[in-house]
Amino acid sequence: MSAAALDTVRLDAQPFDARFVGGPVFRMTTTDAADAGRIRSALATLDKAVKLVSARVPAGASALRAALEACGFVAIERLVTFERTLESLPGALPEGVRPARPGDETACAAIGRTAFRFDRYHADARLDPAIGDALKEAWVLNDLAGRAETCLVAVEADEVVGFNLCLLAGEVATIDLIAVATGRQGRGIGSRLTEAGARHYAGRARAYRAGTQATNAPSMALYRRLGFRAVAEAVTYHWMPGDTGSNR
Ligand SMILES: CC(C)(COP(=O)(O)OP(=O)(O)OC[C@H]1O[C@@H](n2cnc3c(N)ncnc32)[C@H](O)[C@@H]1OP(=O)(O)O)[C@@H](O)C(=O)NCCC(=O)NCCS
Repeated sequence: MSAAALDTVRLDAQPFDARFVGGPVFRMTTTDAADAGRIRSALATLDKAVKLVSARVPAGASALRAALEACGFVAIERLVTFERTLESLPGALPEGVRPARPGDETACAAIGRTAFRFDRYHADARLDPAIGDALKEAWVLNDLAGRAETCLVAVEADEVVGFNLCLLAGEVATIDLIAVATGRQGRGIGSRLTEAGARHYAGRARAYRAGTQATNAPSMALYRRLGFRAVAEAVTYHWMPGDTGSNR
């Protein structure tokens, strides 16, 4: 890669994603100075076996987005980041929500495998949905095994029917994964799980964040109703071999 390309375009291998996609996966990060020429130079350095390159850029970065599209990157999702300021007084967890415990993995994995439909792996029609199913299942299990700082589950008649798996960085708690079993959605369980996270982190974190796809109407409705406000929007792109774009 040329020095100029290196300054403005970085490619990082994503071994976790590669396991499911079945070949090398990279994430591209760029500075504002990246242009189509530099992006093409970076792509040209990749091994021929590469399967997928993703890039996530602010929705308002129009020059950068045009450069990515000129190189064949396809816009897959619009990601909205929501934030809510947390009250300082912790409250008890809502009824029907408790911390996850050993033995919850099987139920949570099944929900993870079947509930997510709006994420970029499921939203990219060129990818087999089984890739997104397996990736989400493994992600849930990783969170339960310690990646998440706090794991909360919703329980109905002793059955785990949903989870809220959160990360904590400094004073910011973030919902990493939240889902409700497909047959149980739309009955307030997701709201209870979200509220449970707020109560859990009150007094420990200043802010509570969540990201969701603009097309995910249920979660957009849920965060807005629970007092979150949208603070950022980004677009995620995918590039696969054969995506050549224009010759600009
Ligand atoms: C997002 C999710 C966790 C919400 O859980 P839930 O138990 O269904 O949530 P609730 O019942 O508390 O609230 C859902 C809200 O979405 C609304 N909703 C449901 N389906 C909808 C639809 N098709 N269009 C618009 N709004 C919809 C409901 O009306 C409700 O809003 P309201 O109370 O203001 O009316 C759940 O839908 C889910 O598991 N989705 C799949 C996983 C996922 O996408 N997770 C989010 C990733 S960021």
